[in-house]
Amino acid sequence: MKNFKRTTVTTALPYANGPIHIGHLAGVYVPADIYVRYLRLKDEDVLFIGGSDEHGVPITLTARKEGVTPQDIVDRYHNIIKESFETFGISFDIYSRTTSSTHRVLASEIFKTIHDKGGFIEKTSEQYYDEKAQQFLADRYITGKCPHCGNERAYGDQCESCGTSLSPDDLINPQSTISGSVPVKRETKHWYLPLDQHEAWLRQWILEEHKEWKPNVYGQCKSWLDMGLQPRAVSRDLDWGIPVPVKGAEGKVLYVWFDAPIGYISNTKELLPNDWEKWWKDEDTRLLHFIGKDNIVFHCIVFPAMLKAEGSYILPDNVPANEFLNLEGDKISTSRNWAVWLHEYLQEFPDKQDVLRYVLTANAPETKDNDFTWKDFQARNNNELVAIYGNFINRALVLTHKYFEGKVPEMGALTDYDKQTLDEFKNVKAEVENLLDHFKFREAQKEAMNLARIGNKYLADTEPWKLAKTDMNRVGTILNLSLQIAANLAIAFEPFLPFSSKKLRDLLNLESFDWNKLGRIDLLKIGLQLKKPELLFEKIEDDVIEMQIQKLLDTKKSNQLTTWKPEAIKENISFDEFMKMDIRVGTVLDCQKVPKADKLLQFRIDDGLKGRTILSGIAEYYPNPADLIGKQVLFIANFPPRKLRGIDSEGMILSAENPDGSLTVVQSGVPLSNGSKVV
Ligand code: MF3
Ligand code: ZN
Repeated sequence: MKNFKRTTVTTALPYANGPIHIGHLAGVYVPADIYVRYLRLKDEDVLFIGGSDEHGVPITLTARKEGVTPQDIVDRYHNIIKESFETFGISFDIYSRTTSSTHRVLASEIFKTIHDKGGFIEKTSEQYYDEKAQQFLADRYITGKCPHCGNERAYGDQCESCGTSLSPDDLINPQSTISGSVPVKRETKHWYLPLDQHEAWLRQWILEEHKEWKPNVYGQCKSWLDMGLQPRAVSRDLDWGIPVPVKGAEGKVLYVWFDAPIGYISNTKELLPNDWEKWWKDEDTRLLHFIGKDNIVFHCIVFPAMLKAEGSYILPDNVPANEFLNLEGDKISTSRNWAVWLHEYLQEFPDKQDVLRYVLTANAPETKDNDFTWKDFQARNNNELVAIYGNFINRALVLTHKYFEGKVPEMGALTDYDKQTLDEFKNVKAEVENLLDHFKFREAQKEAMNLARIGNKYLADTEPWKLAKTDMNRVGTILNLSLQIAANLAIAFEPFLPFSSKKLRDLLNLESFDWNKLGRIDLLKIGLQLKKPELLFEKIEDDVIEMQIQKLLDTKKSNQLTTWKPEAIKENISFDEFMKMDIRVGTVLDCQKVPKADKLLQFRIDDGLKGRTILSGIAEYYPNPADLIGKQVLFIANFPPRKLRGIDSEGMILSAENPDGSLTVVQSGVPLSNGSKVV
């Protein structure tokens, strides 16, 4: 690998159209932060760039829905996002935004440069236009009937009912969501980046010169390139964005995916107005983009083509994109509120940033989609952070205070077992480094945890508390070695669990602190005073986890209610067929569970005649069956009697199905005579 002088690390700019959730964190921000902290710890020159992506059509839709301006929306979410990243310890050197003036100027300049060099082509095409509102309509602003599933409210880019991607031309009876009028086609001119003209060098650069990229990234690029690249429009007819800075482009703005990646550069410029260029234009700078898999084509093909067309910028050396994280088996979704939101987590789990960081890295979707569950969150905290890492540190500190007044004891002669233990961890530095250098954060963190396991096992096996009466020298050696391992842990875990590492460093009074010391056993000098022990992690109880699971169940339920639609109507029946059914009103005299049958309720019904017994398979929906006593219900009276569990059931009680599949007995809202017919 080339020897670079410095590294520019960027993270995908999240849309300021909603808060950050665990999917964003696991895919992009946690791995990037680990990587940057690791480089800083090695004393390398690194710059960590973040920011909000504040343009694009969806933001204007949110604003319209809420009756506020797009600027209001991005102000709100930019602030929430920025603050939550800060509290979570994502250690950006700058977190700015694409509505900044620095960005507006730079994005225009870059467009202009490419334009003046002849790097765009201009094309006229027909687009939908709203004559009443006098504006062109983005695909999202057009709704109509989906040709595939018949959903009446499909969008011009996608039907959310059946998931098919659409173009506005596919819609049956298209309508403008702005004025409600029927849109017409009108000609409009746009600027295109002719990606087809960039294909040859892109093929060479990616497929030949970057075979080391992660297989998921390389594979996606290859399939794009093999399909053949097409010119891409880089302007839009929209009133939210950066104006296209050339003549004849009035009312047009830069396409959000043109301006957003330039945000990486603008934010660098905002931070270092006089010194930004070396981070973007010097061949000795290594550029890395951390992103999620849906951003691969933009960062590996479109943005590099833009930079190449501009002419003065470097290209990324690597783009370590991740796959997606699911939540409890379902795809994370902002619109369905199916997510664990960072700002809520930080409120509900104060001072537990590292727990989430740990769990997200342990389950990082590095090579395939992965799943976050609250049970796993609890288990990893209790069985790993508390039981291994925290427990080891606590024992080492408590024992040192107990036997040596909290001062690092002298190290005597090492036994074979001591040497064996040292052998096990002397490679930890090389191993973690190798993994981090290859963006294998999951395994790297596992290695660090392994070091804690070694320490834990060492104390358990040597049992210094049993030797205290007979051999204090030996106790001193054991504790010295344990404390050295603890100091190593503070270093090894810093990129992953920065808050606990800080705490541990304080407890150990560990002053000199750098990656290159990892693996050494002279990090704590003999006689050094340690602070009073404090727990690094605490157990998370069941009720806390159950509350989180309940919160998700509630979300699921309310989603089902809002998205629920009645089933299609069954085939017609004749009047005679209907008349054959004898439906009647009756009052519930008694209702109880049938012993040893999970599902059955036994009803006694006053049917105006001699009364009857009916069994119904709805016990699971009525934990208190007696609640139904006295209620008037409907039942089919001319069902042939049948025996269930030795009981004769004479009819069928009518229930309605709820969106979640549960059943509710249909009750009469007005008093009726028992036995009256329903016709
Ligand atoms: N906002 C985009 C998304 O969330 C990512 C933009 S990355 C940038 O998918 F490079 F354009 F900044
Ligand atoms: Zn559809």
